[in-house]
Amino acid sequence: MAVFNNLFVLLWVFLAFASSISSNYFFTQACFSTDHGGAALQIGAYYHTCPDVERIIYSKVEEAVMNDPRMAASLLRLHFHDCFVNGCDASVLLDDTNTFVGEKTALPNLNSLRGFDVVDAIKSELESVCPETVSCADILAAAARDSVVLSGGPGWDVLMGRKDSLSASKTDANNNIPAPNSDLKTLITKFQSVGLDYTDMVALSGAHTIGQARCSSFSSSLQGSSSSSSDGPALDLQFLASLKQLCSNAESNNNATLTALDLATPATFDNQYFINLISGEALLPSDQVLVAGNSPTLEIVESYAIDPRAFFEDFKQSMLRMGILSPLTGGNGQIRRNCRVAN
Ligand code: HEM
Repeated sequence: MAVFNNLFVLLWVFLAFASSISSNYFFTQACFSTDHGGAALQIGAYYHTCPDVERIIYSKVEEAVMNDPRMAASLLRLHFHDCFVNGCDASVLLDDTNTFVGEKTALPNLNSLRGFDVVDAIKSELESVCPETVSCADILAAAARDSVVLSGGPGWDVLMGRKDSLSASKTDANNNIPAPNSDLKTLITKFQSVGLDYTDMVALSGAHTIGQARCSSFSSSLQGSSSSSSDGPALDLQFLASLKQLCSNAESNNNATLTALDLATPATFDNQYFINLISGEALLPSDQVLVAGNSPTLEIVESYAIDPRAFFEDFKQSMLRMGILSPLTGGNGQIRRNCRVAN
């Protein structure tokens, strides 16, 4: 009987161990791959087909950022504007054709989106090393991560395996990408409609810790004296005066005059953006509304302003969530040879 009991205990221990391994395995798989449309996005998707892909993308982004430090911000924004319009499918990169008007001339993108040449350079290098293998949508996702890292921000493993779209939509870009003068409710709705919540929205808005904006993007904040035109708190008077001066010059073209989204540390990816919001130095009206009186976003802004690690952690997670919005996988879409045109 004692032998039987011992055997029973051993069997029980074995089963418990095996089940813990399999649930850990499941957890790992669930964290590192995601199943959409039949095929999975995964880390190391090009491990066998293009093993140097991430090194090549990183070195091209690095070179571009060395030549033009703002390029990090521009590449990060490209990925965002891609993912919000029918998923992360590189539709933003397509030029107009006879059958569709693409996204490049949509209001949020026109005279504003940058980085297309850098993506072309990455794509052409990848085509020479491993032809027709790496999608333009994956290039955008990896370049966005590399841009954050090169600016001093956090890194994360990019899930790969997206395919590229065959078309693009100017109308959808106009409708889906949030505008800088949207109120908080509209901003939250736009994020919710792609499956992201308001914590994602606040964390991702932290991308405005790098990069620049044109006067035309924040001119509505410059009306009046110290109160902002949005439902956010009053802007700092000195900050407002300096913006007014910058943008008031009749000679200056509101599309060409730029200022940093984060004046304190303009090219460093840190939590300074959130500190600026609290001290009344938010550039865009859509930034100001995040700290409006009783908004649910205020508390999140405050937590990121005091805890940069919390911001980095949430930013990584939200970038991962944004990066897997409706990807084309498996038999859907294609690997474009040239990111600007469907094959
Ligand atoms: C919450 C809604 C958002 C709105 C309304 C918004 C709006 C804008 C606007 C108007 C500009 C300036 C464009 C110009 O004047 O040319 C800008 C710049 C930028 N945005 Fe956003 N944005 C939002 C969210 C995001 C997100 C989620 C990201 C990335 C994760 C992002 C990344 C950037 C970056 C990096 C820049 C600077 C780009 C550069 O210097 O080339 N933004 N944004």
